[in-house]
Amino acid sequence: MNEFEIDTVRGRRVWDSRGRPTVEVCVALRSGVTGRAIAPAGASRGAREALDLRDGGDALDGLDIGTATRRVNTDIASELKGRDVLDQRGIDAALIALDGTLARSRLGGNAMVATSLATLHAAAAASRVPLWRHLADSYGRTPSVPLPEIQIFGGGAHAGRRVDVQDFMIMVPGASNLDEVMEVTAEVYHAAGSLMRAGGRLAGVADEGGWWPMFDSNEEALETLVRAIETVGERPGERVAISLDIAASEFADGDGYRLALEDRQLDSEALIELLGRWIDAYPIVSVEDPVAETDHAGMVEFTRRYGERVQVVGDDYLVTKAELVHEAAAADACNATLVKVNQVGTVSESIDTIEAAEAHGYRCLVSARSGETEDVSVSHLAVGLDAGQLKVGSFSRSERMAKWNECLRVQDELGSAAFVGGRPLRDTWWGQQRAGR
Ligand code: PGA
Ligand code: ZN
Repeated sequence: MNEFEIDTVRGRRVWDSRGRPTVEVCVALRSGVTGRAIAPAGASRGAREALDLRDGGDALDGLDIGTATRRVNTDIASELKGRDVLDQRGIDAALIALDGTLARSRLGGNAMVATSLATLHAAAAASRVPLWRHLADSYGRTPSVPLPEIQIFGGGAHAGRRVDVQDFMIMVPGASNLDEVMEVTAEVYHAAGSLMRAGGRLAGVADEGGWWPMFDSNEEALETLVRAIETVGERPGERVAISLDIAASEFADGDGYRLALEDRQLDSEALIELLGRWIDAYPIVSVEDPVAETDHAGMVEFTRRYGERVQVVGDDYLVTKAELVHEAAAADACNATLVKVNQVGTVSESIDTIEAAEAHGYRCLVSARSGETEDVSVSHLAVGLDAGQLKVGSFSRSERMAKWNECLRVQDELGSAAFVGGRPLRDTWWGQQRAGR
């Protein structure tokens, strides 16, 4: 018996952190070893992302995944039966061929991503190593503990559009290990909550566990974040810095942008200038999707002006596609990419994207989605592929904390020396400031 041979592939309906149905896949090998993974779900999705197959209709707001799980249990199960679980590339290529569409609409991106990741988990289990080590061994990488990017306030599509900007986050590049990052983040997160509560600005928590703010302007969010950092005795921009996901596609309006909170209409140039003023005024080290996914000229212009100072991350703009990373690099747009496996569909394609990014000197941030579960695959991908940075939302709710906690377990095994610290931000003002000392 070949112990690495896939026997069964089974899909089932489970539920995500928003109480929405999602696809779980369990891959069982002839040896009895299994691997399991759950598809996450985005809310501010890029137009060129792999499509999640949803049933439509009246029940469950049309979000049920009966067809996607059926595809797993029929087409996918028969396609993968008998294959070598260690052949991730072959398996992913088979899934892509079986789907046969650009949008991944026949099998569903949700069915594909859960299957691809479940296969990877089964391969690691059969190899009797943790997933991160299996990834590092398989792809010739040195595992590392990533620098987290952690949300403090949620906004945009994750908080009823209460503020326009989607994620107000912190990074702790000056920490010497992950425990220190977690400790500082806990302090800042709770200090921010207390400040908001005291000011009558707190409405609860948003989709990714960050505080749901009731601010009068986007600047008020930035001011409050700076104050929270100071409250815990930190100098903003030293050990702790700010990062933003503007998710500008979400408030693109015709040719321009509509900041609903401030009742302002901006063209691309005015939005870039506004973000530039924020970069001047606040210790911001990273800006994601500063302009809409269709605003190529704007992305080139933003990168030209600020790419030497801050990390410019493409999320909706690059949707984890290697060919889009190549195109962006040719145009000098962005200097970093988010990596969301379910945006592109499979593990192998995500690895292609990381390799494309590295070839162009782009940084990588492995990322979860706003709809998540107890699945911690993203932590293992970030560690095992030595991605450098990890974004999984905020510092509350177990679907988020599970990912941070998994990284802590890895650090326990690898030691503090495996923590990347501020290395990914070396080429930002933060790193330049350190180098100048
Ligand atoms: P999501 O967005 O809601 O599509 O997961 C998260 C992000 O923009 O990074
Ligand atoms: Zn984003």
